[in-house]
Amino acid sequence: PSALLVLGIETSCDETAAAVVARNAEGAGRILSNVVLSQFDSHAIYGGVVPEIAARAHTECLDLLVQKALDEAGVSLTDLSAVAASAGPGLIGGLIVGATSGKALALATGIPFLAINHLEAHALTAGLTDAIRPPYLMLLVSGGHTQILWVEGVGRYRRLATTIDDALGEAFDKTAKLLGLPMPGGPSVEKAALNGNPRRFNLPRPMIGREDPHFSFAGLKTAVRHAAAKISPLSEQDIADLCASFQAAVCDSVADRVRLAIRSVLPLLPEGTPRNFVAAGGVAANKALRSTLVGISDEFGFAFRAPPLELCTDNGAMIAWAGAERLALGLVDGLDSPVKPRWPL
Ligand code: KG4
Ligand code: ZN
Repeated sequence: PSALLVLGIETSCDETAAAVVARNAEGAGRILSNVVLSQFDSHAIYGGVVPEIAARAHTECLDLLVQKALDEAGVSLTDLSAVAASAGPGLIGGLIVGATSGKALALATGIPFLAINHLEAHALTAGLTDAIRPPYLMLLVSGGHTQILWVEGVGRYRRLATTIDDALGEAFDKTAKLLGLPMPGGPSVEKAALNGNPRRFNLPRPMIGREDPHFSFAGLKTAVRHAAAKISPLSEQDIADLCASFQAAVCDSVADRVRLAIRSVLPLLPEGTPRNFVAAGGVAANKALRSTLVGISDEFGFAFRAPPLELCTDNGAMIAWAGAERLALGLVDGLDSPVKPRWPL
């Protein structure tokens, strides 16, 4: 395959993003531009993402962001090999805005369109940032996703685990909210936990020792609520101890799940295959969780890799890169391809 230049559009949640990524004939990627506009402020007063507001905000700024991405990359529409847009899973209004814009650009320019699975884009990002090739194990932990994936190749994913209730980022956000800490909750909980005693509260370690591979965090969040309700008023130290105890329980639970997943893929790895473990998603920024994951990777002889944070969280470069990888395999999508609010990998 020859060198490719792909525009990527991401509008599945509350980030409007566009990027231009190049893929050379050897399969190496390079980000030429990557612009992200967070709608955080538009949703803050509601305490969560409002789908209708998100869709309108995408409509308002996507054209400008695409132009900015092209300008920063120093390319014009006619230089592109293809346009890729996230087509699911996500909020349907936003997906329609992004995919329709992508299709219109592809139609006007006469180049292929690619309807990208947002989870696939997260899963393939390590190929762009760390130049690693499948197979690898991947933990995706964000506000909307909590999954362990075995990435066998482009288009070949085995979902080893998912959450049976809350996503991990959601659990951090809900815990922050019930303790009166500011949003986004993950960084607030992490900061408070720095001064806390992780052993003061004996919180449950969800799913530990279970043979099914999944995650669960709703019960843990409820346990924090009950522990907090017993103390009135909550001092700053109480909050710090609750956050530290919550984070310790999260790390233990995730560690147990990741070990189980690693054990299940070890037999699939031929002798001599590089062992790579990739973490991505906003929660992968958590230092306590990262050091837990580094420890487990060491235990099993895996190299731990986490793409830079701005490429772990939602962005256009990952969509463009997934598009380039698919295009290199000759895969393209029709202009009649639908968006899919639910689209498991
Ligand atoms: O990947 P992301 O930016 O967006 C999506 O959910 O798509 O992830 C955001 C989530 C939020 O729930 C946020 O609270 C959490 O990641 N998060 C963290 C940290 N930074 C962000 N959770 C724990 N510790 C952090 N340092
Ligand atoms: Zn995402």
